[in-house]
Amino acid sequence: AQSAKESLYVVSQYAAAFFVKQLWETDEGKGIGLSYFKERGFREDILKKFEVGYSPDVWDAMTQSAINAGHKLEFLEATGLSIKNDNGKIYDRFRGRVMFPIHNFTGRIIGFGGRTLKTDKNVPKYVNSPESEIYHKSNVLYGLFHAKKAIRDLDNCYLAEGYADVLSVHQAGIENVVASSGTSLTVEQIKLIGRFTQNITILFDGDAAGIKASLRGLDMILEEGLNVKIVSFPDGHDPDSYMHHVGAGAFKTYLEQNRKDFILYKANILLKDAGNDPIKRAGIIRDIVESIAKIPDPIKASVFIRECSSLLEIDEHILLSELNKMRSAKL
Ligand code: CTP
Ligand code: MN
Ligand code: MN
Ligand code: MN
Ligand code: MN
Repeated sequence: AQSAKESLYVVSQYAAAFFVKQLWETDEGKGIGLSYFKERGFREDILKKFEVGYSPDVWDAMTQSAINAGHKLEFLEATGLSIKNDNGKIYDRFRGRVMFPIHNFTGRIIGFGGRTLKTDKNVPKYVNSPESEIYHKSNVLYGLFHAKKAIRDLDNCYLAEGYADVLSVHQAGIENVVASSGTSLTVEQIKLIGRFTQNITILFDGDAAGIKASLRGLDMILEEGLNVKIVSFPDGHDPDSYMHHVGAGAFKTYLEQNRKDFILYKANILLKDAGNDPIKRAGIIRDIVESIAKIPDPIKASVFIRECSSLLEIDEHILLSELNKMRSAKL
């Protein structure tokens, strides 16, 4: 007999196929889901490649279909696809949403993100699968299965925030892209990228939350000993909105021409609000040296100290002594 864990993969695959069929073959799916994707500018080949779908806006369509096909409720509940309420009534977790299946890196479906089509602020924009025996979100990167070959070949991994970003960057012809989707970036996710490349380029949203997350992310990446660059987007754009805004060709050029190393990126962000205030500038320098202090390799660290020294016009020896202080404080 099939193991319980295997059954969770099987029902997840069933649900994904159900959502795909709904999107392409039903009036509701085509009229609401597919037209939504089309309005956002997604091409059909990209929608098919990522196996996106649509969950009908009714109480238990997916659950009923799965049960009728012979799947056990027990396993549907264990993946979080079906939920039993206090009265014992069963309903679908995902209803009236466009569906992004999440693959593990061998390509099996382990969970879902579902985006609402409503503009109502009280409705959560995304609903995600809960943790299960097959889905541990801190260990998963959305898009890795489709990106891993390109990540290895190009020896770089673009790291975005969301599902739509991964699809749009792919659509621009850039396949080495993943997203932390549904969780803030974890050390496990960085280690997972590290199996394919030592180079990460952060493509977080250009809003306040994205910038904050990028600063946290770059320190985590440095601490894992990987190399990090950052591309930021203007006017609050995220990679998805920016790609559709400027077009695939200009987007590609933008990524190539706006890749900054973390020192330049931090200096740019931080210096903007420090102006010429010497106390603020000193704080910024410390902040940058703090990031450098996270780099395990002392030779790499010293290269960045030199860059920081010339960029901010501070004597290299002062920066080095600051670096050493921070290093010994950490020990
Ligand atoms: N996210 C989530 N739950 C939310 C909001 C966001 O899990 N309520 C996750 C999703 O994985 C989402 C990512 O965080 O893709 C980034 O969030 P956000 O930038 O708000 O969404 P976008 O990906 O830009 O979604 P869209 O372009 O469809 O608006
Ligand atoms: Mn487990
Ligand atoms: Mn955002
Ligand atoms: Mn976004
Ligand atoms: Mn977006």
